[in-house]
Amino acid sequence: MINTIPEVKRKFNVEEIRSDFPILKRLVNEKPLVYLDNAATSQKPQQVIDALNQYYTFDNANIHRGLYFLSELATDQYETARLKVKEFINALSASEIIFVRGATEAINLVASTLCRARIFKNGDEVIISHMEHHANIVPWQLISDRKQINLKVIPITDDGDLDLDAFKSMINEKTKLVSVVHISNTLGTINPVKKIIEIAHSCGIPVLIDGAQSVPHLKVDVQELDADFFVFSGHKVFGPTGIGVLYGKTEYLEMMPPYQGGGSMIRTVTFEKTTFDDLPGKFEAGTPNIAGAIGLGSAIDYLCQFDRNGLTLYEDSLLKYATEQLLQIDGLRIIGNAKEKASVISFVIDGIHPYDIGTIIDTDGIAIRTGHHCTQPIMQRYNLPATARASFSFYNTKEEIDKLVKGLLKVKKIFA
Ligand code: ALA
Repeated sequence: MINTIPEVKRKFNVEEIRSDFPILKRLVNEKPLVYLDNAATSQKPQQVIDALNQYYTFDNANIHRGLYFLSELATDQYETARLKVKEFINALSASEIIFVRGATEAINLVASTLCRARIFKNGDEVIISHMEHHANIVPWQLISDRKQINLKVIPITDDGDLDLDAFKSMINEKTKLVSVVHISNTLGTINPVKKIIEIAHSCGIPVLIDGAQSVPHLKVDVQELDADFFVFSGHKVFGPTGIGVLYGKTEYLEMMPPYQGGGSMIRTVTFEKTTFDDLPGKFEAGTPNIAGAIGLGSAIDYLCQFDRNGLTLYEDSLLKYATEQLLQIDGLRIIGNAKEKASVISFVIDGIHPYDIGTIIDTDGIAIRTGHHCTQPIMQRYNLPATARASFSFYNTKEEIDKLVKGLLKVKKIFA
């Protein structure tokens, strides 16, 4: 059905790729934009913008509801997007792909419905790690008002690697789920999730992987990983905001009750009793983000023109170059030096608050993120109020990294 993955891949040429992203041509503070906040959100290629425009201009109708041309067209495009996601992450079946608002909603859905499925008993444990985004901490705390769930936290080394021995020793008969991030949005650490899944499965425990940062950087195969749940957001993978994916193995999705009630997720409704739709409809109450799903499908088409491993290697070369260049700045310290890293660099500069760094280099059109990056426990671990963070995508260049370094030297001069 989906024919997005061509035999002959488009050749990698960063200048050509940059011209696919209209925003990269704009000026900020009269300087060419240097966008280095890709871990927060990615920019969109013209073809994704065109897909949204096409849908709203010519194809807009509600889905799964009408026996007329436009409704069938919109339904077909929405369901084709689901097939693209299935193929993109190599799920076994399209019915294992649930469209949600983003990774955050996906984890809340799993936490809430596993709790309501009575899978958790008071005193049960969920293992997360010290490098989780708040989206993989708070949902587990929120369900604790229904069930007393204890969070166990895998510690991290000073370099930002997970302590796997500590992880193994945490597993016991109360462990009900392991939920860990694939790539840390703050430290850039690429976690050995396949190994983590193997360890958990050897004790019969399911695993959720937060793939928000990994899907844009790496080719992901959920069957090869044997992940039980895998979540990601569309906007970090060159698609629109407000759309994301929950992948779950059928056996778990079947066991979980609906997350929300409403139209589309039912089979029959009376005032006495409702029966629910099959997967994936059971989890998609109400009118979904139709345009968002179509836009995400278009983003997948865009990415799949390229050899994904080639894009990863290019991003790795940016990471290596940026690391070398940044470390030449006196007083600059990189937070997160894990053995395996994606193109995310958090750093601090002695005596200068990260907010000052971000604000000053913005005057040169350079966009980086500053703050706790929705990972306050990491800041506590390194005893920092905040970091500055540069994160690179395949449309960034070494020249842009040079501009970042120049901007940071200017910041240092101001504070000298
Ligand atoms: N989680 C996103 C980030 O790391 C928003 O910036």
